[in-house]
Amino acid sequence: MLAPIGVFDSGIGGLSVLRHICAHLPEENLLYFADSGFAPYGGKPEEVIVARSLGIAAFLLEQGAKALVVACNTATAASIKALRERYPTLAVVGVEPGLKPAAAISKSRKIGVLATERTLASEKFRQLREYTSAATDVQFLSQACKGLADQVEKGELHSPATMALLNQYVTPLLQQGADTLVLGCTHYPFVRPAIESLIKQVSPGPVEIIDTGAAVARQLGRLLNQHGLRRQDAATGTLHAYTTGSQTTLAQAFETLLHLRPEVLAIQSPEGV
Ligand code: DGL
Repeated sequence: MLAPIGVFDSGIGGLSVLRHICAHLPEENLLYFADSGFAPYGGKPEEVIVARSLGIAAFLLEQGAKALVVACNTATAASIKALRERYPTLAVVGVEPGLKPAAAISKSRKIGVLATERTLASEKFRQLREYTSAATDVQFLSQACKGLADQVEKGELHSPATMALLNQYVTPLLQQGADTLVLGCTHYPFVRPAIESLIKQVSPGPVEIIDTGAAVARQLGRLLNQHGLRRQDAATGTLHAYTTGSQTTLAQAFETLLHLRPEVLAIQSPEGV
């Protein structure tokens, strides 16, 4: 099927998932929607995020999307239920912090979870955390990283301000003995090198970092197969991008972070949002 897959995030964070989708499903046509004009989502009320997610989903479906990837932990936690209720037959993939893979590898049994305030406060996260804690003997140390997604949006992946935020958020987790860090926001894989340099300075032992981008791409592939939606020919897929923010900023982010040059269109907020 030639119809595209719609992928969205509050901004450029979803590119950390998109890169795995491009690698795993290179034949698929893709649409990427960055809601950068309204980022960050992390401090916004749940109903605002639900309304925006439904509006963006409707827009992507109007463009012909055959499946949807909510490449944002905050939007998934707030709105995946509403999306599935509105589109019961649509193939929808969400993302969530990788607590289970972290629990499977942590030796110290202490795991730091970096995410937005909204994700950590969500019912969905509470259930995931409770379930995983009950099934294992791990302790999760949750850390809301206010301002970090903004730094990534600004392209400040290693600036002194970004390093200061990371030091504030990550160092206490390492000092408490966390040997595994979960990147529970799709913006954070882009500051992974900065986190790794901090770990080297602060932690006496190795620290694993969990990013679920590759697992999400594999799950998307399985879902497309189940729905009979996988593109069958061997051509290379196309990529188009939309943003409610600056066209130039998104184009630059694609170029710098993924070495891709898709056509980028700046658009108004989707109708009804
Ligand atoms: N990229 C988003 C996430 O995965 C959220 C960043 C934000 O807009 O606050 O949670």
